Amino acid sequence: MSSHPIIQAPSDPSRLPMTLPLLIEKKRLGEPIVMVTAYDYPSARAAEAAGVDLVLVGDSAATTVLGYSATTPVELDDMLVLARAVRRGLRSPLLIGDLPFGSYEVSDEQAITTAMRMIKEAGCEAVKLEGGGESSVRRARAIIGAGIPVMGHVGLTPQTATALGGWKAQGRTAGAAARIAQEAQALQDAGCFALVFEAIPSAVTEELMGLLEIPVIGIGAGPATDGQVLVFHDLLGIRDGLGARFVKRYANLQQEMNDGVGAYAQDVRARRYPGPEHSYSINPAELAELRALLG
Ligand code: KIV
Repeated sequence: MSSHPIIQAPSDPSRLPMTLPLLIEKKRLGEPIVMVTAYDYPSARAAEAAGVDLVLVGDSAATTVLGYSATTPVELDDMLVLARAVRRGLRSPLLIGDLPFGSYEVSDEQAITTAMRMIKEAGCEAVKLEGGGESSVRRARAIIGAGIPVMGHVGLTPQTATALGGWKAQGRTAGAAARIAQEAQALQDAGCFALVFEAIPSAVTEELMGLLEIPVIGIGAGPATDGQVLVFHDLLGIRDGLGARFVKRYANLQQEMNDGVGAYAQDVRARRYPGPEHSYSINPAELAELRALLG
């Protein structure tokens, strides 16, 4: 049985596609940059309809849609499937593909090959990688050298959360905050077009913003950044539990989904569904002929 044709969510045809120069212009003008994650066609359509600037196919897909308890297990091939679906749902936001754990750390060649697959096979326009240490900076420089824009990511980097002492805020001592500053500057110097600051005290972010010329997108880094990013499933409440302190919920869709599927199950069990309005008819003469044929 085929499914219904997809009705496209509205999107403003006059909106210009987001580009790297437009992003810099937004920073210059002090216009907040809106970024959200997406993992499939419907989430991409929601991002498009909302007119967000940047969409990240985050490796948070590991936890939000694949059911793992950490981001490390997700494979590049999984990310490519998800990114292709997101691509089909987007027109104007800039699409960024997250490089999953193990897909870029081994060598510059590995990093370039992975980033190229994100561009060629999934239609991403840029990639993101985690960490601002020496080797992450080297990988960022190599990918940028191959002509692919890179977004950096410092502070809490979930792929290496165990090494950072767990899922907790980073940069809470002067020394740790200075290290984040150093990493952010090194990624900027390597040519990254933007950075994600994750789980960093607001006051530290404020101090660091003056050091950076490229746009900084925060998640749990306070209001001083040039923009904000939230995970789609967190902001819409498509998960059990409350999530991190920095999450603001704009809907409770998990509850709505549970209620909807529960109501459907009850209807089927009580024979309330399907009703006549959900059923197809046949000409009575044809039905009579069928009965004759079946004996
Ligand atoms: O994977 C992800 O969703 C991310 C965002 C939190 C920035 O890296």
